[in-house]
Amino acid sequence: MTRSLVEQQFGAHAKAYATSAVHAKGESLARLVTLARPEKSWAVLDVATGAGHTAAAFAPHVARVVAADITIEMLAEAGKLAAARGLTNIETVRASADALPFAGASFDLVTCRIAAHHFPDPKAFVAEAARVLKPGGLFALDDNIAPDPALLPGFAPAEVTAAAEAYNAFEHLRDPSHQRALTCAEWQGLIEAAGLEVEHAEVIGKAMEFDPWARRLGATDAVVAELADCLASARGALAAFLRPEVRNGSPWFVLTEAILLARRSSP
Ligand SMILES: C[S@@+](CC[C@H](N)C(=O)[O-])C[C@H]1O[C@@H](n2cnc3c(N)ncnc32)[C@H](O)[C@@H]1O
Repeated sequence: MTRSLVEQQFGAHAKAYATSAVHAKGESLARLVTLARPEKSWAVLDVATGAGHTAAAFAPHVARVVAADITIEMLAEAGKLAAARGLTNIETVRASADALPFAGASFDLVTCRIAAHHFPDPKAFVAEAARVLKPGGLFALDDNIAPDPALLPGFAPAEVTAAAEAYNAFEHLRDPSHQRALTCAEWQGLIEAAGLEVEHAEVIGKAMEFDPWARRLGATDAVVAELADCLASARGALAAFLRPEVRNGSPWFVLTEAILLARRSSP
């Protein structure tokens, strides 16, 4: 069977995600748990679980977690993390975000963190998340977002749109399996169109050290040099969004995550 680009990319670099500080310890991890207020009786689905950091963060607070991902090597990492932490209530399942192999109304909480920018069909993903949620259940999405005028006041809309395109091209150069980072407003629109009610939205800036970020998915030296050049030459709205700087001789920049919580209405 042919493996998708995502599976090839993440299959070859699964271990890097087990140890990545951004994924294992990023601010959005604790923030998702705080905002979702998990309950002991809950069944949770973590879509695109990667190395399982989000699944493992919720597992101690709930009855069970299904950690789902399309890439089997990532599921193996998620299984190792659960075993290392003695978390016996995590089950791993191979699943594509836009065709979840679960019955409707089976989860109290569906999470998805730092992954949806890889999905070819975000609308189908949100519809699937809404379908598998129980009435009254919660959808908690966290993902890297592209800039929109609300994030970059003071820039003309056309300049912000150009910065969003340049940002997505920057991500795609580093990782060809990157599809598109949506804006926070686009996510809100998709979530509401799926019949969920957005209860909370916030954005978090995360400082990224350029080199480990650029190399995590195996980019060649030539691609890393091109990415470094894009960052150093960013101007205007793109520079205001990525905020490049040099710390102790190493380039850093900022990625922006949005966290959205939305509820499926009760009957
Ligand atoms: C950066 S990792 C996820 C990080 C993880 N959620 C966390 O909190 O640390 C991205 C994951 O998305 C998965 N993925 C990408 N496209 C997918 C899809 N269409 N369906 C399911 N998983 C997908 C990849 O296999 C990869 O494991």
